[in-house]
Amino acid sequence: MRALFGSHLPLLFRSMAATRTPSASKSTSTSPSKAPSKSKRKATAQRAEPSPERHVVDGEVVAAAPKRKTAKKGAKKGAAKAAKGAKTKAAKAPKRAPLSARTADPMELYQLAVQSPELDAAFLARVFKKLTGREARHLREDFCGTGYLMAAWLARHKENTAEGFDIDPEPVSWGLTHNFDKIVDAAERCSFHLKDVREPSHKKPDIRTSPNFSWMILTERQTMLEYFRTVHADLVDGGVFVLDIYGGPEAMEEMEEVRKVSPGFTYVWDQKRYDPATGAYHCRIHFRFKDGTELRNVFDYHWRLWTLPEVLDILREAGFQRVESWWEGTDADGVSGNGVFRQNDKGENCPAWVTYIVAQK
Ligand SMILES: C[S@@+](CC[C@H](N)C(=O)[O-])C[C@H]1O[C@@H](n2cnc3c(N)ncnc32)[C@H](O)[C@@H]1O
Repeated sequence: MRALFGSHLPLLFRSMAATRTPSASKSTSTSPSKAPSKSKRKATAQRAEPSPERHVVDGEVVAAAPKRKTAKKGAKKGAAKAAKGAKTKAAKAPKRAPLSARTADPMELYQLAVQSPELDAAFLARVFKKLTGREARHLREDFCGTGYLMAAWLARHKENTAEGFDIDPEPVSWGLTHNFDKIVDAAERCSFHLKDVREPSHKKPDIRTSPNFSWMILTERQTMLEYFRTVHADLVDGGVFVLDIYGGPEAMEEMEEVRKVSPGFTYVWDQKRYDPATGAYHCRIHFRFKDGTELRNVFDYHWRLWTLPEVLDILREAGFQRVESWWEGTDADGVSGNGVFRQNDKGENCPAWVTYIVAQK
């Protein structure tokens, strides 16, 4: 796969970034969320450990020949389709060994536990169509890490293209190795830039997103305003910027939330510290395994817990003409989220929520 990279690597936020995944259960606090949307753990972080596979050549990250582990892939949704025709005994995927801190790949666990790229990509496409009446084709993902969302975007339509910005070559390299092997023409339709998110796009995006709360590493209002201004200038006319945000009273509690994840590990979202005077927010992710081992502090986030109205105001100030929040509906049980998001001016006063912010140029 050919990849396009910038040589410029500002380190401004390198030490601040972190990954995380609050669970936005619409209902009670500590119960792990089950619905993919509401329970979706979103994350924005920097790995505390180096990724195991890295292919960096002269400042460029290049894709390695696919060397995916069959067992790993076999455990993933959609793998059966990819392996179509491989119904012989010989082609049967080997049974996966139980996960353990000694052998697990933290980046893979992260993707399994906190990301729902197909749902996010579908949401982006739906919102853009609703606001503009046309299909979005070119996506830019800020803080793209492994580019998991970009890969889902490419998979949605053969004319879809994407570019991602991240200052850290490690997750980018991991993503090139693990996330794009089903997209045969990914090299033609996708590029990564090892650059700060405030750098302009190679091609003006129809839709631009900063998922999994990554933008919350920008902790000063002026810095956030500058970032949003660069996003506004970068979009096509009428283009759309989508963020997600985590809130509700439980978001401010110093607590751990624990959730079991297939194929057999426990994800722990650790809200370590929240300072009400500044909004400073320290969260971590740990993974626990059935053999009693644990990976602690795999991702470590130092964010500001921004409030929704603050962010909407800054987006308006940055020049966006239409700024909305989209909230998830409630399931038949009257408690859980139903995965369907709609524009809602007032929001819903849940103990913990994840909602989308949609801003149109
Ligand atoms: C955990 S990742 C987010 C991955 C992915 N977008 C997701 O949905 O989970 C956050 C990323 O932001 C990157 N990052 C932090 N500050 C940045 C900046 N100023 N410009 C570009 N990338 C940045 C980090 O290198 C890290 O890979």
